[in-house]
Amino acid sequence: MFMLTVAITSLSGGQGKTTVSLFFGRKIASLGYYTLMVDADPQHNLTTYLGVELQPNQPTLLECLKKSVALEEGIYPKVIFNPGKPDTRL
Ligand SMILES: Nc1ncnc2c1ncn2[C@@H]1O[C@H](COP(=O)(O)OP(=O)(O)OP(=O)(O)O)[C@@H](O)[C@H]1O
Ligand SMILES: [Mg+2]
Repeated sequence: MFMLTVAITSLSGGQGKTTVSLFFGRKIASLGYYTLMVDADPQHNLTTYLGVELQPNQPTLLECLKKSVALEEGIYPKVIFNPGKPDTRL
């Protein structure tokens, strides 16, 4: 199986990382590819935009990478896209 990994990153704030991630991920999924978006920003805006509401002390990927919580505790499964029927809420 072919797998492509794309990292959207910048040290500067407000450059459009989250926006590009959201729309790029949506586009790829709408073309029928299995798409996994990993939100590595502890502000977790992408997670929120995808409809997952985190409570104030809920762990993010940052806590997992710092090994303060198990990886499973920072993962919130959410199926957003049906490849044949792109989500149109955003
Ligand atoms: N192509 C674009 N044209 C106009 N405005 C844009 C575009 N892309 C993003 N924006 C706007 O720019 C602002 C910053 O975008 P975004 O939140 O995606 O940046 P970011 O790099 O993820 O920021 P942060 O570093 O805070 O996470 C937002 O208000 C967003 O709506
Ligand atoms: Mg962002």
